Amino acid sequence: MTAVGRQVRRYPFPMQRTEVSPMYATLRRSEPVSRVRLPYGEPAWLVTRYRDVRTVLSDPRFSRAVAQGLDQPRMRVENMNDGIMGMDPPDHTRLRRLAMKAFTARRVEKMRVTVGRITTELLDAMVAGGQPADLVRHFARPLPVTVICGLLGVPLEDYPRFTRWTEAFTNDESASTGVLATVGREMDAYFAELVAQRRRRPTDDLLGALVRARDDGDKLTETELIDLAGAGLLTAGTETVSCGLPSFVYTLLRHPQALATLRAEPELMPSAVEELLRFVPINTAAMFARYALQDVELSGVTVRAGEPVLPSLAAANRDPDVFADPDRLDLTRATNPHVTFGYGPHLCIGAQLARLELQVALRALLDRFPRLDSTDDLEWKFGVIVRGPATLPITW
Ligand code: HEM
Repeated sequence: MTAVGRQVRRYPFPMQRTEVSPMYATLRRSEPVSRVRLPYGEPAWLVTRYRDVRTVLSDPRFSRAVAQGLDQPRMRVENMNDGIMGMDPPDHTRLRRLAMKAFTARRVEKMRVTVGRITTELLDAMVAGGQPADLVRHFARPLPVTVICGLLGVPLEDYPRFTRWTEAFTNDESASTGVLATVGREMDAYFAELVAQRRRRPTDDLLGALVRARDDGDKLTETELIDLAGAGLLTAGTETVSCGLPSFVYTLLRHPQALATLRAEPELMPSAVEELLRFVPINTAAMFARYALQDVELSGVTVRAGEPVLPSLAAANRDPDVFADPDRLDLTRATNPHVTFGYGPHLCIGAQLARLELQVALRALLDRFPRLDSTDDLEWKFGVIVRGPATLPITW
């Protein structure tokens, strides 16, 4: 079966708050490789089965590089420069290897104490302001920005600018080509200056380490450094966590039994965070279409060479062939191979940092606020990349 004569559904499917649209389960069962059309770009295949999603993310017959310059299925009018996400091996492998020379597990683990300190300071300030307080404004948004600024060695005074840039890239559906191009130029110029400073005077921070990173005489070019620091780390590293964290709190508050278990058994926190990552959708839609380089068969459907495919991580994370009782939040789930951080060559570079931030932040909230609660007077945002509470008023 090919694309001809098939129903093309509008995508993303209608959704509420943290709900994973029931359409995914329907499709996974009866039409696991279906046709969809995003607000912009050409129609695409949507895959909803775990096995197919992992194939599309990792099989070299699918390309991200080919997508560059094509009318990619996407959420906004602008076709962006996808940086590291727009490359295939071996170019991608080279860039990634150099990035990983600087962004090591050791460097991330050393951040545990810093993340704890930032968490305490932010919560102190929130408590001082009285209740109810907006968890997003006082905690979930500043936490990842402060962490990534400290890691990269970027001055925190520039916070208002970062927020404007990351908001424009990740949430502003209506941002016109001109606005995004201006924001992109501003961000590039900003990071070009910081890179130049580090060339003049080497630093120990992550940006300094990226500037110095060498592999067999190879190193990152100026453009690669700027793209990686700005769009790659600052943008990807902030909006995801600042949407994920309040979504997780919201979910726990609506699952009192699970919350009570987590309070009683703090050692469950790592597996609880993995389960929340599986259960709570952070992305608004399946994104970063892969283009087939040759005809590929997925669940009985032939994807033709040159056609784009969208892998739905949220659908894969609820596949009953992989996760027992997939629609149940089970913080004690023993094996949890979720794909929330992707899979294959583009597996999230910041996954360990994100896990660390989420674990430390949730632990602090539960320890500090035994009567944590939220009012239902909250706003939700569905951005072009991520979704989550825009405000989450809490009491304690
Ligand atoms: C809960 C938080 C996060 C989630 C859910 C998340 C999710 C993802 C996913 C799904 C991908 C792969 C996309 C694809 O293959 O289509 C990805 C890639 C990436 N993420 Fe994350 N991410 C998170 C946090 C972070 C953080 C904290 C950073 C940086 C500090 C980061 C930096 C990156 C980068 C640079 C890539 C591109 C990797 C590559 O192309 O090789 N992310 N992320």
